Amino acid sequence: MPNNEFYLGKTIGIIGGGQLGRMMATTARHMGYRLIVLDPTPNCPAAQLADEQIIASYDDFTAIKVLAEKTDLVTYEFENVDLEMARYLEKQGCLPQGAKSLEITQDREKEKQAMLASGQAVAPFKIIKTNDDLIEAVDTIGFPAVLKTCRGGYDGKGQIKLTNKADLAEAKTFLAKHQRLIYEAWVSFDCEISVVFTRGIDGAITYFPIGENVHRDHILHTTTVPARVSPIVIDKAKQATEAIAETIGVVGTFAIELFVKADQIFINELAPRPHNSGHYTIEACNVSQFEQHIRAICNLPLLPIYFHGAAVMVNLLGDNIDAYFSKCERLERAHVHMYGKGQLKPKRKVGHLTFVDQDREQLVQYLKQQHLI
Ligand SMILES: Nc1ncnc2c1ncn2[C@@H]1O[C@H](COP(=O)(O)OP(=O)(O)O)[C@@H](O)[C@H]1O
Ligand SMILES: [Mg+2]
Repeated sequence: MPNNEFYLGKTIGIIGGGQLGRMMATTARHMGYRLIVLDPTPNCPAAQLADEQIIASYDDFTAIKVLAEKTDLVTYEFENVDLEMARYLEKQGCLPQGAKSLEITQDREKEKQAMLASGQAVAPFKIIKTNDDLIEAVDTIGFPAVLKTCRGGYDGKGQIKLTNKADLAEAKTFLAKHQRLIYEAWVSFDCEISVVFTRGIDGAITYFPIGENVHRDHILHTTTVPARVSPIVIDKAKQATEAIAETIGVVGTFAIELFVKADQIFINELAPRPHNSGHYTIEACNVSQFEQHIRAICNLPLLPIYFHGAAVMVNLLGDNIDAYFSKCERLERAHVHMYGKGQLKPKRKVGHLTFVDQDREQLVQYLKQQHLI
């Protein structure tokens, strides 16, 4: 039975007003909800679609309390929500996703520990706090490797790749700045994939088809769906997802990034929210990752997922958007999304394109012929 409360003009609060918040807002709007966005930047991408914006920093407790008072439930577009505030919202009964999934995913050390505790394979890693730890990691893990900040990194920010001992001076400066880092073996993967799924308050999971991701400079460039991986890999990825979702108590849309090497999988990263690699679901599925997310947190039934057959999503960044838009006549099959960001900056995501077909090979071939991928 559909939940009638769905239609009763409830208000959803979103912490964070970037592109993910904006796409959530678009969906929540068409589902009939009112929206209040909390973000420090006036007229941020999500606020352009909201009924109201609370302009405040993310660690402004008073602002969070106002958000909680003015809304029926709160969600977020990123994992860097202040944990005390998340706990406060959870206590108030207005954070259906709970604070635990934020606690684990906002800190790479906790995330890795949670992965190991739930029996998942991850790249060999070591937590680095001193120069001696760094030397020990070089001795035990070796090169190539990547150093990552434990908190706050995204789109390749907060990480440096280490190829040999000549990179250690830079590594030491990076450590002096951040104090706690992860030294991680560089995985020579065959491909990267992500599992984007939604878990209801009742624990039931719906899966979107697994996408294959190509990164450039550590930033997602394209997602192609379905991923070209074996049924064994798909099974392993789903088993890992179930274990992780259970351990964390996931509610809402959530993404797991994985490295694939032959039939082995390594968990790279978790995202407790809709994910860039799931944007293709907007046009290529009967229900998008955003709608399924809103359904989950509002305790509405999740929909079974149907997929049109093939999709390619291309991210538009400050540095490549001109190149794509100069091919305008070749973008005739593109679903164009622009995020309403005021300024174009190199490496800043400003929009994306989605191409949908029924056949993956045909679609990829067409996009290659058109020099779009
Ligand atoms: N250990 C690794 N081995 C190989 N590639 C890596 C590794 N860590 C990161 N990368 C590359 O960098 C990308 C971004 O790293 P990630 O840890 O997912 O950080 P974020 O997405 O938060 O910037 C990955 O998707 C992958 O392409
Ligand atoms: Mg990532």
